[in-house]
This record gives sequence, C-alpha cells and structure tokens, in this order.
Amino acid sequence: MPFTAKDSARCRADFPSLRQTHLGRPLAFLDGPGGSQVPATVLRAMENFYGTCNVNTGGNYPPSREADRRLWEARQSVAAFLGAAGPESISFGQNMTTLCFALANAIGRTLSAGDEVVITELDHEANRGPWLALRERGIVVREIRLLETGELDPNGLAGTINERTRVLAIGASSNALGTVNDLERARRLSAAVGALLIVDAVHYAPHRPVDMQALGADFLLCSAYKFYGPHVGILCSRPGALERLPTERLCTQNPSAPYRIETGTLNHAAIEGVRAAIEYLAGLGRGADPRARLVDAMSGIAEYEHGLASYYHERVSALPGVRVYGPPPEASRRTPTVSVTLSNHDADAVATALGEQGVCVWDGSFYAIRVIEVLGVAARGGLLRTGISLYNTREEIDRLLMGLETLCRAGG
Ligand SMILES: Cc1ncc(COP(=O)(O)O)c(C=O)c1O
Repeated sequence: MPFTAKDSARCRADFPSLRQTHLGRPLAFLDGPGGSQVPATVLRAMENFYGTCNVNTGGNYPPSREADRRLWEARQSVAAFLGAAGPESISFGQNMTTLCFALANAIGRTLSAGDEVVITELDHEANRGPWLALRERGIVVREIRLLETGELDPNGLAGTINERTRVLAIGASSNALGTVNDLERARRLSAAVGALLIVDAVHYAPHRPVDMQALGADFLLCSAYKFYGPHVGILCSRPGALERLPTERLCTQNPSAPYRIETGTLNHAAIEGVRAAIEYLAGLGRGADPRARLVDAMSGIAEYEHGLASYYHERVSALPGVRVYGPPPEASRRTPTVSVTLSNHDADAVATALGEQGVCVWDGSFYAIRVIEVLGVAARGGLLRTGISLYNTREEIDRLLMGLETLCRAGG
C-alpha cells in the first residue's frame, strides 16, 4: 500500500513531540538515525504496563503471568518485524552495543589464536569495537576498505575473507552515509568458508523491510529507538545459533534461547513499548497477518522516505560549496540519510545555526569514526547528517534547504 504525504501528515498527529515549537516555529526532527520520535500509543503501552503488571516475571500470581505473556508477545512482534523464525529468536538487551559486546565475547571464547574476524571501515563503532577487542585473544581482525565514494571496496569482501575467517560482521547500511551494503554477496562469501554472518541492522531496520531468514544471517542486531520505539536493543538469532555460544551468564539464568544472552532484569515496560511501536507500524500496512502488514507498511514508508531524500539530495547538491557524500540517490543503494559538508562552515557551526531555527540535524561522526577518518573530514567537524523518517515533510526539507542556502552564501 503506498504511503503518501497525506499519510505522513496524518501520522504526525500521532507523535506528541512533533507538536513542540521553538521560537514560535514547529521543531523539525530530521535526526531519525540518532533516534526517532515515538507515537502516543507507545507511551500509553508503557504507562499501562507500569500501571498493571510492573512485577517480577516468572511468578505464579496474575500480574506476573500477565507480564510474562506481554513479554512473549513482544518477542512475537519483533520476530514478525524482522522476518525471524519465531519468538525464540528474539533476545532483548540494554542497547545494540551491549548486546554486540556480549555476542562478540561469547563467539571469541569459541575461537583460537590465528582465527580471523572481518569487519568494515564503514560500520558504526558498535559493530567494530567489540570485534577489535578480540585481538587481545590473538584473533586477527581484518577490515574491508571504505572507498571515497562512500561504498565498500567491491573487491574487499572477496579479498579479505579466506578459509581462516570465522566471523563476518557487517552493517546492512551506514548510519553516517546511508550506503546500503550487498548482504547477499556477504552471505555467499561467508557461507563458502563456513564463517558466521553478523548483521548490524540498526540503521536499516527503520527504513526497509528486514527478512532475517532470507538474509541467511546467523545473528542480526537492531535497536528499537530507531524505529519509533523506546531504548531497547534487539538480538535476532538463527535457530540453534545462540545455544552454541558460551555466553556470560549466571548459573540461575535460563540457558536456552532467547534468554541465554539476557543478563539480569530487562526493561519490561520499554519492551512493551517496542511491541506497541511495531503494532503502530503494522497498522500502516495491509495484509492477512502481522508480517504481511509490516512488510507492506515498511515498503510504502521506504518509498515515501526515498522520495524526500532524493529531493533533498538533488537540491542540496546544487548549493554552492556543498559536497554530498555516499552513493547516488538510488533506492537500492541508499537509505534516506544524506550527509554533506559546506566549504565555508564546519559541521558543528552549521548544525548549531540550524538548531537555533528549530531544525534538528546532527553533526560529527555519529560514532562511525572510521568513515570520518577515511573521508578526511575530521578537521572540519565531520559531516552534517539529515535523516528522514515517516513523519518528515517536504516543508521541513525546504526549511532545512533554506537555512543551508543562507549559510552557504554567508562568509565562513
Ligand atoms: C548503524 C548503527 N549501529 C549501532 C548503533 C548502536 O546502537 P545502540 O545505541 O543501540 O547501542 C547505532 C546507533 O546509532 C547505529 O546507528
């Protein structure tokens, strides 16, 4: 079902934070890659959880049973959202970074000195640091090169993976540049040498339907606060994959999936919010079951967001002194995230000036520090990033463009 500007306008009414103003003008939230806004249904679901079943799980009294039921339902919702085999595949955690450290640590314990792990220069540090830390155990970490074009070296994958590779950790798309990676190729090459495929879908999941089973990944990570939910990290595991890992856990902890990597008490109310966020998205699509509705909704949203991003890409490229980074604006090569530099102002000065006008965009490295180093923009404060979400409008993009044009024409 297409998702149109009218649908977007209707959705805006569902997000309380979008009613805020700054100096008399509505705030334009264009920093979805840093964290999206939440619909009121998510807030209500969390409040309802606290108001009804804020008790320990696994108990034999009614509110505890209700908490268990809702948490299981949340796993079912996330499984539908990610195209996972089932709720047993879905583990929750504090955030993606914490889950990725736990995963890398557990996998690291199964490796021997000389084994190799492959990461990329395009990735967020959350999908680099946990793997780089394995070097302390004698694991060799190889990096696929990022090219000036903002895409990974196409020969890098084949050239870096070999018979000693045990893990390929790669992002589905870049939170800094929007680049979409060739995961099908990553799957083929990692499968050919029997390496685990770990996919960071934090930036991808808010913008495209994810199909964990079609992807053939062993593990996929994402974060609900990027797709209209609260701050909760998600690990999706291929059936059987998590059980094989010596995760760090208490002897009292359930050793089966999905609990095997979930240490301590989870943020139950926030997980209920994750369920509500997915229900909200499903409500924007059509289909016979939740998965079909989610795929339909995310496909429509992807097209809408891509239209706005392409409009911005084209207009911003034409401004004097602006350089746009990353691949051309083709839907298969980009998420709706566009990063630029201005020749006459550093990125933080641009973001500050725009912020004063109520236009919220982020500047810097976005924790994708290697990207900033490779592109040689660190000395200019990194990049200015605009991220488009389902609630963003053409008017907001025009406001951003107007602000940028004024800055481009002003001296540095
Ligand atoms: C691509 C990507 N990976 C990983 C992360 C880290 O996620 P979290 O904040 O849940 O640890 C982010 C956060 O911005 C991200 O954009």
